[in-house]
Amino acid sequence: MTDPAASTPPAFAAASAGRPSEASAKAGTPLWPAQLDHIGRESDNPAALVTFYRDVMGMAVQPLGPGQWLMRGPQRRILIAVGTRGGQPLSAFRVESRQQLDAVRARVTGRGVPLLNLSTPLFADGFAVRDPDGRQVAFGLPDPRYAEPASFDLPAARLRGRLQHVVVASTDVARLAKFYVEDLGFVVTDNVFAAGDEHAAATAMFLRSDLEHHSFAVFRAPEARPDHHAYETASWNDIRDWADHMAAHRIKLWWGPGRHGAGNNLFFMVEDPDGHKVELSAELEYVARDAAPRAWAHEERTLNLWGGAWMRS
Ligand SMILES: [Fe+2]
Repeated sequence: MTDPAASTPPAFAAASAGRPSEASAKAGTPLWPAQLDHIGRESDNPAALVTFYRDVMGMAVQPLGPGQWLMRGPQRRILIAVGTRGGQPLSAFRVESRQQLDAVRARVTGRGVPLLNLSTPLFADGFAVRDPDGRQVAFGLPDPRYAEPASFDLPAARLRGRLQHVVVASTDVARLAKFYVEDLGFVVTDNVFAAGDEHAAATAMFLRSDLEHHSFAVFRAPEARPDHHAYETASWNDIRDWADHMAAHRIKLWWGPGRHGAGNNLFFMVEDPDGHKVELSAELEYVARDAAPRAWAHEERTLNLWGGAWMRS
């Protein structure tokens, strides 16, 4: 893989203007390890979303109440609700034990962050907070009533893809990332800076909560909005199979296939019926818990080593 450090002066990587303290990564965090468990999606036409995630993403439909549906496939689940078109109001992370949950809650309250009641039924215990862009971030223990069934009948459920990361866009990357790192306990993996300016605020940041390169990331954009979410497959062959599956549904690949620089993963993206980007990924890099944050230039190559990139700013 590309070694970003090879082309990056040390001072560039150590720049600190407006950036979350990297001391939190070294001090340890109760959030480690945690994984993305589910996200919430909203639409003014939820029926179209339900159909897409059922037929294209292989997720069985379970109505949860008026205007809300649980979509569930192997190692992947999301909530769909009536609401704002293209909305992604919730990111929910799973921890491993009640003890860990208590430790994460203690850290968050110790930072003075107000706690919200859980808005997701998929956690038996947990809490939520509101990030600086107004999105709910939940932490919890999965409710066994919604445990994954032994098998799924939908044809698309044969395709492997574990819900793995969620990404947002923001007008203020530093402010949002500071909240996720210092208040919530995520660890900085990679920073992206305007080329040659080691004192600039980051234009993108990739954060991890276990060994996988990122479970959350934020890109600079003209407005705060959802960006995409991703499913991690087991191999390049799975990417091929998903792309053939998209072709069978007459869904054009929106970006890719390519290989991200940051994360080094193979990928392509499609759009769901509301234009929200859905990524299929393979070979996402592992990064050790105590690895120092790395720096990348704000250029297409950072986002796609093979070709053109979706530049949010
Ligand atoms: Fe991604």
